[in-house]
Amino acid sequence: MEQLRISTNAQDLDVPLIHRFLSEESAWAQGIPIETVHTSIRHSLNFGGFLGASRVAYARVVSDRATFAYLVDVFVLKEHRAKGYSRALVGAVIAHPQLQGLRRFMLATSDAHGLYAKFGFAPSSRPQTLMEKYVPDAYLQGKKKPL
Ligand SMILES: CC(C)(COP(=O)(O)OP(=O)(O)OC[C@H]1O[C@@H](n2cnc3c(N)ncnc32)[C@H](O)[C@@H]1OP(=O)(O)O)[C@@H](O)C(=O)NCCC(=O)NCCS
Repeated sequence: MEQLRISTNAQDLDVPLIHRFLSEESAWAQGIPIETVHTSIRHSLNFGGFLGASRVAYARVVSDRATFAYLVDVFVLKEHRAKGYSRALVGAVIAHPQLQGLRRFMLATSDAHGLYAKFGFAPSSRPQTLMEKYVPDAYLQGKKKPL
C-alpha cells in the first residue's frame, strides 16, 4: 500500500479542497467561509497528507507549542479511507517536535474515539472541570431560511 507523505508546510495545502470538505462534508464545520479556513490555517500547525501529488488528508493543531494543544479538522478523503492514513496523520501530529511535553492535548470527536485512543487520548477524567462556549452552527447563522 502506498505510504502517506506528510507535510507541515502550509504552502503545500490545497485550501479550496480543505474548504470544500469542511463546508460540505464535515459534521462540524458546515458552511464555514473560505476566509475563515485561510485564517485558521495561518494560525495553526498544519499537517497535509499526500499520495504522490494528490492531497488526500488533513489535520491541524491549535497550540502555544509549549503547554497546550487542540487537534481539529482531521479528515481523510472518502476514497482513501480504511488504509491507515488517519493513523499516520495523527502519528505525525503526536511526534511533532513542537508538541512535546504538553500538559494537556485536547480534541473533540463524535465517533472516532478508537483512532485517538491508540495515541493515548481518553475521555476527560474530570469532565466537571471543563467548560466551553460552544456554537455548533456558528457558520450557518444568518444563512438559515426564516421558519
Ligand atoms: C475518521 C477518519 C479520519 C478515519 O480515517 P481513515 O484513514 O479511514 O482511518 P484509518 O484507516 O487510519 O484507521 C484508523 C483506526 O482507527 C479506528 N477508528 C476508530 N473510529 C473510527 C472512525 N470513526 N472512522 C474510522 N476509523 C476509526 C479504525 O478502526 C482504525 O483502527 P485499526 O488501526 O486498528 O484498523 C475518516 O473516516 C474521516 O475522514 N472521516 C470523516 C471526517 C471525520 O469524522 N473526522 C474525524 C473528526 S474527529
